[in-house]
Amino acid sequence: MTKGVFITGTDTEIGKTVIAGGLAAMLKAAGVDVGVMKPIASGGVEHEGRIVSEDAIFLKRAALVDDDLDLINPLCLRHPLAPSVAAEIEEVTIDLRQIDAAFNQLGRKHEFIVVEGVGGIAVPIGGDLLVAHLAQRFQLPLLIVARPDLGTINHTMLTVAFARSFGLDPRGIVLNGLRDESKGLAEETNPKEIARMTHLPIMGVVPFDVRLQRNPPDSAFLSQFMDEHTELGVLANILNPPNGHPLR
Ligand SMILES: Nc1ncnc2c1ncn2[C@@H]1O[C@H](COP(=O)(O)OP(=O)(O)O)[C@@H](O)[C@H]1O
Ligand SMILES: [Mg+2]
Repeated sequence: MTKGVFITGTDTEIGKTVIAGGLAAMLKAAGVDVGVMKPIASGGVEHEGRIVSEDAIFLKRAALVDDDLDLINPLCLRHPLAPSVAAEIEEVTIDLRQIDAAFNQLGRKHEFIVVEGVGGIAVPIGGDLLVAHLAQRFQLPLLIVARPDLGTINHTMLTVAFARSFGLDPRGIVLNGLRDESKGLAEETNPKEIARMTHLPIMGVVPFDVRLQRNPPDSAFLSQFMDEHTELGVLANILNPPNGHPLR
């Protein structure tokens, strides 16, 4: 079975790509043969005559892999919408067999795959299928990226409950984008309360830092930054086989 983690978030633009890239960069720096995947993307950009996913470019550079962008991201829609809606407008049929084939190929090639979902866990990808079904197909544990500020307890609890109702296995939460100027009582107390209510570890509170916004990223910087601010290495060690490469 393919080892890896499926990164979802309580929202879009929450930091899934940054955290997924950060985890991949940390694993790479620790000597793990890590692969990355963005199975479905929307809001693709024109690049050398085709539509590509900026998330896939970020992940590829973070993990320092030479896999084809088409393998990392087998389906890229142009419109920045839920995949089901973008696919309908663009008259694209979402072929899950193609996505499975790419996932299996990456799984054969690499020891550990960091998969970034699209939007949040209840986003429709086509027909009655949701992102949660995609995570089910891959049979990977989840890491949830959430906001650090007021309102995040609710969003995080909803995401965890929804994931569990699909039989998914959330293993940890990262609160991302904490700004110095907005550090208040909510930001201070949220990690403990979320951990208490979800029974999941908070694997880090990642500060807002403009250096994380570079695309393509600097893998070494990303790795060092995530190592400093998260315990994602611990998560990877739990999810990796015991004879794998310990991160610390
Ligand atoms: N900790 C952070 N500090 C600064 N910018 C961030 C941070 N996390 C994410 N960003 C920026 O916020 C935007 C959304 O992040 P991204 O990882 O793309 O979210 P998602 O993948 O969930 O849509 C991007 O422009 C990214 O560079
Ligand atoms: Mg993303």
